[in-house]
Amino acid sequence: MSQQTFSSDDAARRFRNALGMFATGITVVTTRTPDGVPFGLTVNSFNSVSLEPPLIVWSLANDVSMREQFEGCEYYAINVLAADQEALSNRFASRVDDRFAGLALEDGEGGVPLLSGCCARFVCRNTTRHPGGDHIVFIGEVVSFDREERPPLIYHAGAYRRLVD
Ligand SMILES: Cc1cc2nc3c(=O)[nH]c(=O)nc-3n(C[C@H](O)[C@H](O)[C@H](O)COP(=O)(O)O)c2cc1C
Repeated sequence: MSQQTFSSDDAARRFRNALGMFATGITVVTTRTPDGVPFGLTVNSFNSVSLEPPLIVWSLANDVSMREQFEGCEYYAINVLAADQEALSNRFASRVDDRFAGLALEDGEGGVPLLSGCCARFVCRNTTRHPGGDHIVFIGEVVSFDREERPPLIYHAGAYRRLVD
């Protein structure tokens, strides 16, 4: 391997490809406006930060349509997708009229929409936001969570994967 810099024309693509070698789970981050409209998008930048206090991190691109809703909300939920929820990941990353159409939802704190069939769900208070280049970095304080023994959906090198033992 040889170290590469950002001087060449295709540096952005090669940087993205290198980042893609870090395998992640997939989440859908959801919230609701004060008048009840649900919002959500597919996010793989989620990670844990701290156990005490319980903190998580994720980042939101500056140019997503629902940026103001997430910046201003009191709570949001991180829904960790299971292996059989690839269609939900695609739905919450594409332009469809209503991303929540036909989904069975439960309400968490502040009415945040919780998706069914996930591996884990974390309801977070929207405590801290930091500018992070072309993204905003959100640090959330987890106020409640649950977990189910389901295999997770994995994302690696630009493709969905499944765990094998
Ligand atoms: C696997 C995957 C992971 C993604 N991770 C993120 C992420 O961490 N942060 C983000 O802002 N967008 C992420 N996106 C893109 C957003 O889901 C997408 O830009 C968003 O749904 C666009 O919403 P809009 O059309 O309402 O602007 C990801 C998309 C996919 C398919």
